[in-house]
Amino acid sequence: MSLKNINVSKAGPNCGAFIEGVDLSKDLSVNVVAELRQALGEHGVLFFREQNMDPSHHIALAEKFGGVNINRFFAHVEGWPQIAEVRKEPDQKANIGGGWHTDHSYDQIPALGSILVARETPTIGGDTIFSSQFAAYEALSDGLKEMLDGLKAVHSSRHVFGKGARYKERGEDLGGRLGNEDAAQQDAIHPVVISHPISGKKALYVNPGFTLRFDGWTDEESKPLLETLYAHAARQEFTYRFQWSKGSVAFWDNRATWHMALNDYQGERRLMHRITVEGEPVTT
Ligand code: SIN
Repeated sequence: MSLKNINVSKAGPNCGAFIEGVDLSKDLSVNVVAELRQALGEHGVLFFREQNMDPSHHIALAEKFGGVNINRFFAHVEGWPQIAEVRKEPDQKANIGGGWHTDHSYDQIPALGSILVARETPTIGGDTIFSSQFAAYEALSDGLKEMLDGLKAVHSSRHVFGKGARYKERGEDLGGRLGNEDAAQQDAIHPVVISHPISGKKALYVNPGFTLRFDGWTDEESKPLLETLYAHAARQEFTYRFQWSKGSVAFWDNRATWHMALNDYQGERRLMHRITVEGEPVTT
């Protein structure tokens, strides 16, 4: 990708890109923001190394791309309600975001994406895996593409953040890090295949975290096809595994990627700051 103001190099063959030549603590010019937006629409997730951003820089960066979505469910950084804390203490076993998902697909207008900044990382482990839903869609057969084109799916926040959340059924110790369960009232219906708002590329838009069923189908009828799509979309060739170090930043686009945080660093602390940026309606 040839851009004038930033250096973009692919992270994996099908997912993500590393960006160099940008100091995210600075007031970015309109041209740099436009090129970052273009790269996001092309690669789905952008990675930056050795950034030195404080919370005010983090917010200023997010606001270049849209309004800040104040998270309803996550604990926030003290004094900074715009910044959600993704934290795991040495004595906690469960992590946040440990299964494949796309943030905010349960909202009528899903968030554009999130900017995650590594504040404290374990000595080894705690990587995040991303999967390109552009690549996943592209690799489907023509027959399945044709079938999915007319379908919509129902997404919800209730089973993830609500009173009967599955993490509670599993006995996971997420209390104190997630809360406000009464606010988990969101259900939304979106096309199963969307055209990306920036690049126009087609992406698969169902995810194991928040999608419940195809619209107009029962859960049972939906399950086999959803599971086929999930197994396909998580194929290794569509993914990139990012290793964090303090000061690393990932900016992912929820309309183009899934992500999953690995939980392989028991006994160590991992602390990330996340800002979610508002998006626009997703359409075919
Ligand atoms: C998330 O799902 O937002 C958290 C990702 C991570 O901690 O790597």
